[in-house]
Amino acid sequence: MTASPRLSPALNVVVSAVQKAGRRLLRDFGEVEQLQVSVKGTGDFVSRADLRAEETLRTELSRARPAFGFLMEESGAHGPADWEWRWVVDPLDGTTNFLHGIPNWCISVGIEKRIAEDKTELMAGVVYAPALDELYWGEKGAGSFLNDKRLRVSGRRSLTEAVFATGIPFASVPRKAEFSAILARVMPQVAGVRRMGSAALDLCWTAAGRYEGYWELGIKPWDMAAGLVILREAGGFVSDPDGNEPYPSGNVVVGNQTLQPKLREMVADGIAAVAARRGATE
Ligand code: IPD
Ligand code: CA
Ligand code: CA
Repeated sequence: MTASPRLSPALNVVVSAVQKAGRRLLRDFGEVEQLQVSVKGTGDFVSRADLRAEETLRTELSRARPAFGFLMEESGAHGPADWEWRWVVDPLDGTTNFLHGIPNWCISVGIEKRIAEDKTELMAGVVYAPALDELYWGEKGAGSFLNDKRLRVSGRRSLTEAVFATGIPFASVPRKAEFSAILARVMPQVAGVRRMGSAALDLCWTAAGRYEGYWELGIKPWDMAAGLVILREAGGFVSDPDGNEPYPSGNVVVGNQTLQPKLREMVADGIAAVAARRGATE
């Protein structure tokens, strides 16, 4: 899938890089189906595919912009220490889906700019889901797009019509009690809650108006850097449960203008209820 000619030069670089890494990941995804019978082999195979995708992205992006820094999921922060711009990269978001042959996975590349000693701003992002043939991209002030189509958040205003996405904590992740308390508040009021398994795509699908909102606690900068720009450019509202900037700390609540504040309140309320319960038993 090609992106629109309105792409800036830096975003063009990202699109070529994700398309290159995506072609290989897509071939690997085809292999995964064959490997499903050998459970042990699949995990190793997917971590090799993940590392290879990161390597491809690193090579392509640093060749095009040697002065940019990197923050990558697998290899951490590297490149010039005094970067003004850096790439924030998740080479494979939705690993569990990939491992199970579920097509909801993507590559996510955000572009962050240092605007003061201790302050950065997210400027642009690309999220590419090869198995869905969906390329999302956005740039501060220039809008966001799915392939060639301009994105706009959902216009639904009532909770009873709303579908929200979330991330459910799994075995090795904390905050299970908070998740249950939040879900108990959200579930009875809405049309549905979805757990599709890729934070970057959850943000993009909210930008595309498929979901009215999305919340998740404890996600990482590479899960959200690109998606947050895409969502904001689609008219989305973004905060943490207290109403503050969620990047890079990672507790996110997003949605349209009417429903994001309501979702934020339910998330904050769930977190507060767990804290109060813990306080009472100490
Ligand atoms: C995960 C996915 C998932 C979210 C987790 C992330 P990974 O990323 O985005 O949807 O719930 O918090 O860690 O491990 O597939 O790159
Ligand atoms: Ca991720
Ligand atoms: Ca990942």
